[in-house]
Amino acid sequence: MSKSIYLGVNVDHVATVRQARGVNYPCPVHAALQAEIAGADGITMHLREDRRHIQDRDVERYAPLAQTKLNFEMAATDEMQKIALSLMPADVCLVPEKREELTTEGGLNVAAQQTRLKDYVAVFNDAGVQTSMFIDPDAEQIDACVAIGAPVIELHTGAYAESKERRAQDAELKKINDAAHYANSLGLVVNAGHGLTRYNVAAIAAIAPMNELNIGHSLIADALFMGIEAAVKDIKQRMIEARSQ
Ligand code: PXP
Repeated sequence: MSKSIYLGVNVDHVATVRQARGVNYPCPVHAALQAEIAGADGITMHLREDRRHIQDRDVERYAPLAQTKLNFEMAATDEMQKIALSLMPADVCLVPEKREELTTEGGLNVAAQQTRLKDYVAVFNDAGVQTSMFIDPDAEQIDACVAIGAPVIELHTGAYAESKERRAQDAELKKINDAAHYANSLGLVVNAGHGLTRYNVAAIAAIAPMNELNIGHSLIADALFMGIEAAVKDIKQRMIEARSQ
């Protein structure tokens, strides 16, 4: 089993601060390039249907500048597929999207829309763009991802991150651990993300099949006080230490 674990930095919240005032700063592309210098292995930008944070011009500017890779997070719509195919990111991550939610709330229900998603993913497979499905840690969803030909999954760690009690958190961690091993045994690449912080990341990073963790909100919050380079280095170091134990 590989000892490597990769950090994807989500810069959406830099754009959230900018959009709150409708000005041209702070710039998520600048944040992405600084995060790469600090050791990020990839950058996530989520272009939402309502454009509440990342704007089209942000992804258009970052994509050709990327030194690592762009993980383009999106809803599985025709509009977004067209944009993704014009950007040709290394990865796309398909997520459910509701206008009224504060952030991505649950995993994508792949099992319930296999026929549509199979065709959708096939377009990316043919174009050489790797598709990751953001799903809850659930065997039925994993089986559905295999059935539709998706090569990568991202396990939703929100329930783990939000658990207030130790026992509940351990139960959520077990679900993620079991799901990661099951998906890996079926040949899927396994990533995870949502709600991860410098304080709760170690247990997820320690799960052997875990390939990449995508972290945004807490990292950008830490960057307010530490600077983005220190925040990236700190969480990546915690991930690497957890993996090497
Ligand atoms: N992965 C996916 C698919 C997400 O939707 C998000 C939230 O935008 C993240 C990772 C990062 O979550 P957080 O901002 O809580 O670190």
